[in-house]
Amino acid sequence: MPPSEAFIRGIPKAELHLHIEGTLEPEMVFDLARKHALPLRYPSVAALREAYHFDNLQSFLDVYYAGAAVLRDASDFHALTSAYLQRAHADGVVHTEIFFDPQTHTARGVPMEAVIRGIHGALTEGQARLGVTHRLIMCFLRHLSAADAMATLEEALPYKELIAAVGLDSAESGNPPSKFSAVFARARQAGLLTVAHAGEEGPPQYITEALDLLQVRRVDHGVRCEEDDNLVARLARERVPLTVCPLSNVKLRVFARLEDHNLKRLLDRGLCVTVNSDDPAYFGGYVAQNYLEVSRALGLSQVDVTQLACNSIEASLLPDSKKQEWQAKIRAFAARAEA
Ligand code: ADE
Ligand code: ZN
Repeated sequence: MPPSEAFIRGIPKAELHLHIEGTLEPEMVFDLARKHALPLRYPSVAALREAYHFDNLQSFLDVYYAGAAVLRDASDFHALTSAYLQRAHADGVVHTEIFFDPQTHTARGVPMEAVIRGIHGALTEGQARLGVTHRLIMCFLRHLSAADAMATLEEALPYKELIAAVGLDSAESGNPPSKFSAVFARARQAGLLTVAHAGEEGPPQYITEALDLLQVRRVDHGVRCEEDDNLVARLARERVPLTVCPLSNVKLRVFARLEDHNLKRLLDRGLCVTVNSDDPAYFGGYVAQNYLEVSRALGLSQVDVTQLACNSIEASLLPDSKKQEWQAKIRAFAARAEA
């Protein structure tokens, strides 16, 4: 049965690949620029939105880092995170694991504490108000040096109780996971879990490096694994989750069209594939829109969508008891829809 929009929105799900800076909507860019008396290159919200056409990852990152420059104090990060949680809740998200890029902000003189406390305060309030649980994942910008990442890690360690894991993002090509082996070893030694973007634009070998050198719990994107049959077999055997972002992959031209996306093939090969929104303010939709559009483009069934929702919980950093609770609720939701 093809899933209805109500089914897709209503099914409980976790979101595991979401850059909080990527939820900065053009309206908020203008509000914050006004608040901080910052000049903008675009004359209007519509003109800014119109500029969101990208040729590849780098052309997006240039716009994304420029947009993030309006985030200057803890209340900005708080407002950004609260707005995202409201949207995620409306999309059936019951648990979210949020990336943030401290180096984007500390390089502009924003204190680490303002970034972490602003985001974390909103997450805590959101849990009380909406019941959405959370984890925070601090990403290192891989186009910067390993020494810069190490200094950032040390600066964040006083707040490590608020952070569950470290990740790796930004320009992938030419910046392999091996560049950050020592940084990730230090993070693991401090008790943090690890994830990494790999196999978005970079080759399958970067996925293997992320697994073997960074000891990641899951791989962000990972779609280029399909170029290596042995790697696909390993990911299936070890149930290594992939946090796939279908609309992002089309906007950044990893796939020409959503119809060409390999999500269904990977799901059918037994991989723990999940659906996520990456940078929804830039890519045309939050998580339910990603489920909806990819379901229509690839002809996913209600059973497939239920599997994706169960995978999102399996791939999360929640304790096993919570995972079992949510998966039972997901199956009960699907059974009610069948009846
Ligand atoms: N930062 C924000 N979105 C990203 C993506 N899709 N890939 C790498 N770095 C990112
Ligand atoms: Zn990402």
